[in-house]
Amino acid sequence: MDSRGEIATDSGRKMTRRLPIPPPLAPNPRMDQKANMAKPVTQFACTDCGAVHKKWIGRCDGCGAWNTIQEEVPLSQGPSKKSLGTAKGKRMALTDLSSEEVPPPRTLSGMGELDRVLGGGLVPASATLVGGDPGIGKSTLLLQAAAAFANAGHSVVYVSGEEATAQVRMRAQRLGLADSTVRLASETNLRDVLTTLEAEKPDLCIIDSIQTMWADTVDSAPGSVSQVRACAHELTSFAKRFGTSVILVGHVTKDGQIAGPRVVEHMVDTVLYFEGERGHQFRILRAVKNRFGPADEIGVFEMTGMGLAEVANPSALFLGDRDAPAPGSVVFAGIEGTRPVLVEIQALVAPSQLSQPRRAVVGWDGSRLSMVLAVLEARTGISFQGLDVYLNVAGGIRISEPAADLAVACALLSSREDAAIPPETVVFGELSLSGALRPVAQAENRLKEAAKLGFTAAMAPKGCKTGNASGISVRLLPDLITLVGDVFGAG
Ligand code: TYD
Ligand code: MG
Repeated sequence: MDSRGEIATDSGRKMTRRLPIPPPLAPNPRMDQKANMAKPVTQFACTDCGAVHKKWIGRCDGCGAWNTIQEEVPLSQGPSKKSLGTAKGKRMALTDLSSEEVPPPRTLSGMGELDRVLGGGLVPASATLVGGDPGIGKSTLLLQAAAAFANAGHSVVYVSGEEATAQVRMRAQRLGLADSTVRLASETNLRDVLTTLEAEKPDLCIIDSIQTMWADTVDSAPGSVSQVRACAHELTSFAKRFGTSVILVGHVTKDGQIAGPRVVEHMVDTVLYFEGERGHQFRILRAVKNRFGPADEIGVFEMTGMGLAEVANPSALFLGDRDAPAPGSVVFAGIEGTRPVLVEIQALVAPSQLSQPRRAVVGWDGSRLSMVLAVLEARTGISFQGLDVYLNVAGGIRISEPAADLAVACALLSSREDAAIPPETVVFGELSLSGALRPVAQAENRLKEAAKLGFTAAMAPKGCKTGNASGISVRLLPDLITLVGDVFGAG
């Protein structure tokens, strides 16, 4: 036998040896049936957090929200083997870190509070999400921002899916922005929006709102999780490819029928929330996530008849209409982002008629209040049993800093004991479960802001680096027992 697998016979004829080939397998009818069977095409997604579930459930495992699960058609069944072929695939462009040109400078709108929250201006080719309750003023803010960017010499396109261009123009006239060069469009079809944007290549594009946009490649209603995700994905990739900054507006939804802005938070570079109490004129723009700047930065605005006005000195505004010092009222020296902000914390402790007394909180965390009450009861023996407790952060601002613990404890004790805290005093400090007070960051900045606004005294935890805060006498307290003994005259 030679190397070609041929056998020489006596007669000299060559005979090719056939390798035995097994007969083809008989098709298994059951397997075939399985392969052809369509995969389940529906899944269930939470409209609040976007978590995907195999079946409908009443409460989302991801975020704990009730009745937010909606049936969704998945975006795709995954790429088929064919589309992932290596030979025909386009090679992606690889560049060196060092060879990349210096990123262009940030664009400033000239609205100081907005630029501050963005981390010092808008980054080109970035995607920003602005979330907030319906009617809080997102469209007003973004129309003003659009006009500000246009006035600074940038090309801006404002796409409204909610209002007709005439309505947007009417609002602009009311805001005194009618002569601005912002280009308006009223459109909900994403394909048309992208075609226009690719032709125009603006510096900034505002989409109001992402829930009204509709991609015809996705087989579900506008506002559903898959639609919102698909549209946000298309728009963010447009931003990266064409260098346009894209701002998406997202309504915070309560009823679970429409996907909320949290569904796209992970796709964008910056997430801002516009918050505020309806009854108050203050509005706070808060950076929750920022790839290009500090998170937790806030910008403060005031809603006026002529739109949003910037508030450069929020402490003065939040304390502006303060009454004479009363039991239960304490001024907390807080830090919001990089800026110190003074706010008034009010507590009311009153006998309860209910078997389970009420604990009501506005502007602070309810479970944190329960913790402060428990520590007060356990470490000082002052009981709040049989008493209703109401806690309110005045001015409509929401505080999330643990440094407010001591101010809350002071407000609760002050109302409970009916003893006012000495006037012109600010309070800050974190409470430990042992009843000790823990030092907090940026004590010097807090004290400086308090001194600037005419406060003369402060209560802070022992160990705080108070620096050389002039004009303010600081009382450093080690624990709650000392606070109760020194300030409220009880042991
Ligand atoms: P809007 O920007 O439409 O809210 P969103 O886009 O978040 O749904 O704001 C609507 C509210 O703002 C409305 O209740 C009226 C108030 N507003 C003013 O007080 N002054 C103004 O100049 C404008 C334009 C709106
Ligand atoms: Mg709106």
